[in-house]
Amino acid sequence: MDESKDLLVFYVNGVKTIEHDPDPTCSLLQYLRTKLQLTGAKLVCGEGGCGACTVMISKYDDENRTILHYSVNACLTPVCSVHGLAVTTTEGIGSLRTRLHPVQEQIAKHHGSQCGFCTPGMVMSMYTLLRNNPQPSMTQIEKYLEGNLCRCTGYRPILDGCKLFSKEACALGENCCRNKNGDDDNKNDNKEEKTEAYIPPYDPTQEPIFPPELKVNYAKYHKTSLLFDNNGVKWYRPTTLTELLDLKQKYPGAKIIIGNTEIGIETRFKNIKYDVLIHAANIPELTIITSTEDGIKFGASVTLSKVEEVLQQAIENSAEEKCRVFKAVVEMLKWFASNQIRNTAAIGGNIMTASPISDLNPVFQASTAVLEVISPDKVKRRVAMDAGFFTGYRKTVIKNNEILVSITIPFTHKNAYFETYKQALRKEDDIAIVNAGMRVVFEDESDVIEELYLSYGGMAPTTIMAKNTMSNLVGRKWGDNLVPEACQYLEEDLPLNPGAPGGIVEYRKTLTTSFFFKFYLTVTQQLYSKGILQGKPTPRSYLSAIETHECGPSKGTQVYELVDAAQKDDNPIGRPVIHNSAYQQTTGEAVYIDDMLPIKGELFVAPVYSSRSHATLLDIDPTAALQIPGVKGYIDYRDIPGVNRIVICAEEFFAVDEVTCEGCLIGGVVATSSQTAREASKMVEIKYQDLPAIITVEDAITNDSYFREPLVNECGDVDKGFQLCEKVLEGEVYMGAQEHFYLETQSAIAVPNERDEMDLYSSAQCPAWVQESVAQVLGVPCNKVTCQTKRLGGGFGGKNTQNIPIAVLAAVAAKKYNLPMRCCLERDDDMVMTGTRHPVMAKYTVGYSMDGRIVSLDVNVYGNCGNSIDGSEPTLGNLLRRIDNVYKIPNFRAACHFCKTNIRSNTSIRTCGTVQAIFIIENILQHIIDKHGMDPIKVREMNFYQEGDRTHVNQIIQDCNIEACWQECINQCDYYNRKKQVEIYNRENRWRKRGISIIPLKHGVSIGVIALNQAGALVNVYTDGSVLLAHGGVEMGQGLYIKMIQVASATLGIPADRIHTNEMSTSTVPNASVTAGSTGSDLNGMAVKFACEKICKRLEKYKNEKGSSWNDWVKRAYEDRVSLSATGFYKAPDLGPDPSTNSENSFYYYSYGVGCSEVEIDCLTGDHTVLRTDIVFDVGTSLNPAIDIGQIEGAFVMGHGLHMLEHLKVTPSGTLLTKGPGNYKIPSVGNIPKVFNVSMLKGKPNKRAVYSSKAIGEAPMILSLSIFLAAKSAIMAARHETGIDGYFQFDCPATPDIIRMLCQDEFTKQFPPAEEDNFTPWFVKL
Ligand SMILES: Cc1cc2nc3c(=O)[nH]c(=O)nc-3n(C[C@H](O)[C@H](O)[C@H](O)COP(=O)(O)OP(=O)(O)OC[C@H]3O[C@@H](n4cnc5c(N)ncnc54)[C@H](O)[C@@H]3O)c2cc1C
Ligand code: FES
Ligand code: FES
Repeated sequence: MDESKDLLVFYVNGVKTIEHDPDPTCSLLQYLRTKLQLTGAKLVCGEGGCGACTVMISKYDDENRTILHYSVNACLTPVCSVHGLAVTTTEGIGSLRTRLHPVQEQIAKHHGSQCGFCTPGMVMSMYTLLRNNPQPSMTQIEKYLEGNLCRCTGYRPILDGCKLFSKEACALGENCCRNKNGDDDNKNDNKEEKTEAYIPPYDPTQEPIFPPELKVNYAKYHKTSLLFDNNGVKWYRPTTLTELLDLKQKYPGAKIIIGNTEIGIETRFKNIKYDVLIHAANIPELTIITSTEDGIKFGASVTLSKVEEVLQQAIENSAEEKCRVFKAVVEMLKWFASNQIRNTAAIGGNIMTASPISDLNPVFQASTAVLEVISPDKVKRRVAMDAGFFTGYRKTVIKNNEILVSITIPFTHKNAYFETYKQALRKEDDIAIVNAGMRVVFEDESDVIEELYLSYGGMAPTTIMAKNTMSNLVGRKWGDNLVPEACQYLEEDLPLNPGAPGGIVEYRKTLTTSFFFKFYLTVTQQLYSKGILQGKPTPRSYLSAIETHECGPSKGTQVYELVDAAQKDDNPIGRPVIHNSAYQQTTGEAVYIDDMLPIKGELFVAPVYSSRSHATLLDIDPTAALQIPGVKGYIDYRDIPGVNRIVICAEEFFAVDEVTCEGCLIGGVVATSSQTAREASKMVEIKYQDLPAIITVEDAITNDSYFREPLVNECGDVDKGFQLCEKVLEGEVYMGAQEHFYLETQSAIAVPNERDEMDLYSSAQCPAWVQESVAQVLGVPCNKVTCQTKRLGGGFGGKNTQNIPIAVLAAVAAKKYNLPMRCCLERDDDMVMTGTRHPVMAKYTVGYSMDGRIVSLDVNVYGNCGNSIDGSEPTLGNLLRRIDNVYKIPNFRAACHFCKTNIRSNTSIRTCGTVQAIFIIENILQHIIDKHGMDPIKVREMNFYQEGDRTHVNQIIQDCNIEACWQECINQCDYYNRKKQVEIYNRENRWRKRGISIIPLKHGVSIGVIALNQAGALVNVYTDGSVLLAHGGVEMGQGLYIKMIQVASATLGIPADRIHTNEMSTSTVPNASVTAGSTGSDLNGMAVKFACEKICKRLEKYKNEKGSSWNDWVKRAYEDRVSLSATGFYKAPDLGPDPSTNSENSFYYYSYGVGCSEVEIDCLTGDHTVLRTDIVFDVGTSLNPAIDIGQIEGAFVMGHGLHMLEHLKVTPSGTLLTKGPGNYKIPSVGNIPKVFNVSMLKGKPNKRAVYSSKAIGEAPMILSLSIFLAAKSAIMAARHETGIDGYFQFDCPATPDIIRMLCQDEFTKQFPPAEEDNFTPWFVKL
């Protein structure tokens, strides 16, 4: 191959891009963001797991003379791989400067963008779908968006925005007016509809054309070989097999690369470097698809999407019996990664990676697919993917220097049956825990097994065949006793030691037999239907075990109160106004910290942190890091001019002698690019001497490791209560950690200025704390430090304090080098360096009456605070203040214990403390209910507070709306009828069960620290009448800016579009409280209102002039030298003791809500589906119902993650195992309730907050407990089948392994838990 270097040529948004010296290690995302300054696509994970970097690639298909469009994750796409292709980003399809693309417009208009960080990726996924299919179905849309995560919205508004492009957009279907063109016949009919709300149909002809040059010069771009050579790495793109083999001969260690979805992960996260990469995507033999006598032969570089398409066509056009393996592959691909990954990942890449959890290899092995491989000296051979194919961890019989050319996926015949199974933590876009391919071949027209192939993934270091089971069952009849026998053989074939990598060993073993049981049932059904098996058929109640569960696209309603007809049109209070930067967010114009243009001279700092949980620091040697080109230096505690402490977090800043958790900050590496800084930071050599580490709550209790005395609350006489009550129960319940998973990682830019000034741009929920901390560490007064925050890409409490070390790190480095410094954490660093929700364990004793009324409660709560007390006092304080929920507990004692451990300090997070509190009290009630089989509604109702009651913290219950929400929700969800239906379903189905649960909520509003319940605002009116509004609140997606603009608009009496908010800055509003605890709009709203009222008062005298307008009043006031700038200040009143009522006012009011969920579980796998959720929430008089509904849905879905999915795992020595979306699963679009109805309680204005509204951001999260308890109820029904009734402990998160193992049956009994003392578990419960 020619060894001269080539130019990289591709198009971006229609513009030709030529790169003279492309870097083969550079991703397309990095290129777009740093070289082209196209920052719409975001870096969130860098591992293909979130979709925020989605862009569209278009390619000319010379053979079919058509243009192909497909979405990809730009973070995993090497820029060198896009030669001759056209890339489209969200900036290329529409902008506010030109025109919005309909997808951008509709997502924004439907409130589908909150923090906006996921939005460009969502837009591009949807856009790509439309380019391929201008009118997709909703099911297709949901499938397409599975690879795009959103932490804010709960997905429903995004789907609503997309729905308008779907077939289901209108009940009239094809007759919808949007589908009619402008001929006269239709015009009159449609007049009515063509009002403001009229949305024209999507018109694909309006899209930009594919660059003609790429078409005309197809051969030049795609049929000539290429070489790029930069950064010590060669990238070859051969175009013939001979060239490829010659290169392999020349460079035996060269790496073949196709989709880069494996190699990208290895190079990025395992720091593996390859000197020579051979891009083998343009070689005819590797891309051809042919039909052969035996099956369909796919070249190794064919993408998974193409494989799916071709097999689907074959299924549709061939006899069913021929295509049973094809169907299995298509079924497996449905659950294989995301659309973006399948569009680039190749079938050969999956085989050659030989991952033990590959999804396709079990299918190929069980079907004995045949591979063709070729060696560099051009010797071809055929290799069967049989039991001997995998030889070790990520090893196969294919030799290192051989190249996989093709795979033939075989046809089946009438006597062969094939099924495939996959179980993952999250059904959509997740890697398997266990998967399997199973094939049975019968003797002709008989039920005698002739051949049996069972291949499993996730059960060994390789994909493995259950050889003994297979051989022992051959010759046997397919009958009832087959299953128990198979289970015994499978246990022998698939051993796993209790400490095996991956953990959850009993569950994995149970899955192997449960899958076989499903296979048995499926084949049995088919044999019956053919008349081969006769006699007693499979009981009907068993069939749901094998039915594929398609619920169709999710749907729902949102109900809110319309504003009074008398309200002026331009008064926006109570109207569903769009988030004020929603459009910028969809077009990629919204600027987050890392999107800011480079500042002259800017450098980058990457953190150096501890890899040990508890150790003495013996030596730190940055020499190796300093030798990397581009590295400018290393900083640590010796570079601190002020104090080495973040006072607000009660933490040392840089560790000096000792580290107390993994992720403890030790130093920082400064370099000319973020990549270099990060790479070099990993090369700083640190010598540790390990010290004993305390990781879990249990460890802390054993070691008596606490930060302080317990926080105790007591009312009534608990001991006497126990003596008087009729029944007493003791129990324990546990709730795990939760990662915030804001999409924008912790980020900061520090810019040094004259006279010790330091300007900071920080992703902070409290810029004032950043200002104060930076000033302390730099040893300067606060007036020298300014911190600005325009918006956050999500916060959820994780940026209250845990962003501070990052801003300080940037500031210390900026100070030392006297240059601007950028520090934006990578996802894995962020997850290691920041804390999570406090895991808690509660031990309780509850006394109650015969009918379930609580008389006395004694509870000890142990919170895992981590290595510092930062955030733990308010969190456990919240827990204590809110643990009563809606229940009157006359005798109450609770103690919260602050466990000091060696994990990263746990911190505030949406409903911190409160979600744990309500989890605990509801589980206690459920314990009583389950123990005695009581009615959950009656027991809850009898314990409800009544108006005027006093809570356990002696606050008087006033304006109590719990009954109203409760009754409305019961009616809305038709609770009693549905409960009956659930019981019928459970009687009729053995292996699937349903449960329904309804949960009430009372949420006290205030921040636990009284001083923080204050806010300031500054309103500047300019001479043209426009208004600049500043307040102490930070916009993080919750719609605070637009709500504040609505308040200002209503108070000033001017339209909202005259008012602008650009950022939160410590220089405009000093000492502003953290935006947290749902109090942002309450506190800032009043401050804004007061400031606006001052302005109104000053303008009063000009208003009387007839015919004059706002602009005239402002002008006149200016001419009269009246100040047009006003501040507002507000403090929440009456917090603390109230002598007039002898009560303690912890909260300034309560909000209420009720949620009901119905859940279905698969008892054999532990999967769950939320069939329906109904929520009724009391938001007073909503300031903005669209924003509030968005908060309710988003919080609820985040809570679903907490209760059912999100499992933070650490090793017994405290190393975090879940460092990104690959192994930490937040809900995706497929997880949301299939029916999701949200309504706001009507006619209940709140006299204690701005414009009668109520706080909303956090509390609805708690209602997702209804999913958890509905799942528990379903599990109870499953246990009932095997004679196990009554209470069982059910801990959170209820991941599939927990659900499956609680549904005890003959399969689980086979695998009892191992003795805990005999092994070291793979992970411990956090
Ligand atoms: C977010 C994400 C989700 C994923 N989800 C899943 C999942 O659900 N299920 C699953 O099974 N996998 C999953 N994967 C793994 C991965 O996508 C697949 O293994 C994919 O098929 C790899 O193909 P590729 O073309 O990207 O391989 P590459 O990364 O390009 O290459 C992978 C390996 O194969 C070798 N190779 C490729 N072609 C040849 C050839 N012709 N001859 C010799 N060697 C060759 C390469 O040298 C390399 O070692 C996921 C990956 C990511 C990043
Ligand atoms: S940043 Fe690319 S998928 Fe997450
Ligand atoms: S709007 Fe989707 S992550 Fe924030």
